[in-house]
Amino acid sequence: MKRFAVIGNPISHSKSPMIHSAFAKQLGHEITYETVEGQPGHFSELIARLIEEGYSGTNVTLPFKGDAFAIADELSQRAELAKAVNTLTFGQGKITGDNTDGQGLVQDLLRQLPTLNNQHLLLIGAGGAAKGVIKPLFDAGIVQITICNRTIEKAVAIKEQFEKFGVINCCGFEQTYNVSADIIVNSTSTSVSGELPAVSDHIYKNASFAYDMFYAKSDTRFMTHAKGLNSDIIVSDGLGMLVGQAAESYRVWSGEQPEMEPVLDSLRQLI
Ligand code: ATR
Repeated sequence: MKRFAVIGNPISHSKSPMIHSAFAKQLGHEITYETVEGQPGHFSELIARLIEEGYSGTNVTLPFKGDAFAIADELSQRAELAKAVNTLTFGQGKITGDNTDGQGLVQDLLRQLPTLNNQHLLLIGAGGAAKGVIKPLFDAGIVQITICNRTIEKAVAIKEQFEKFGVINCCGFEQTYNVSADIIVNSTSTSVSGELPAVSDHIYKNASFAYDMFYAKSDTRFMTHAKGLNSDIIVSDGLGMLVGQAAESYRVWSGEQPEMEPVLDSLRQLI
């Protein structure tokens, strides 16, 4: 029986064990998947112990995605670009690092939208979460990404790193009154504290879809704000991205693609 875990701190409320167990059941696999609380500064000892104990791989969440990136012997291109790893695979004497967050977002967008082809996407925020999704979004057909961030320098740095993959513009929040995008994605941490990114209301009026990477029991303030300004806009939280990144990790480990929809439905009842 293959053993997996998710490492984070805090970690006790992680939904990953439930999600991965459901995928395994769906595909008729027998796995164990548990939570492991990591201690900052001791990540590599923990990984050595898990390898010793025969684990096949782990997911990695906050605050260890940078440690996981540093420890990997081999990296996928998407992990290399994101400078962060959320999926470690152990085998053949080496540690392989991957990042499935971007694919998780793409899968959740494609579940809810007919196509991403030729769409212009406004990405709010320029932190670690933003960096991980840009290349997968271009690969999925997005034709233009405008990155807006409170601190414009960070948006400019991401543009410089990623513009070889597609058309990227960037601006500060105050310039967003000029932006007309089809899809808006909020990757800032504002929803954690019930705040809103200070972008122009104009962006919500022109868009057809507004996605918050954060999720909670009820709609986030970003979602209700968008809906209040444009009754035609479709809004979504990021629970599907969580399930999507898990599905992609599961695929990386097993070679088989689980179905995210039934797992997302049961998870929605639990949060
Ligand atoms: P993550 O890895 O989750 O992306 P991060 O790297 O700390 O976390 O980035 C957090 C993002 O949320 C950044 O884009 C940050 O903006 P700054 O770069 O200007 O700091 C954004 N953010 C956090 N609090 C915010 C707020 N109150 N208003 C607007 N943006 C905010």
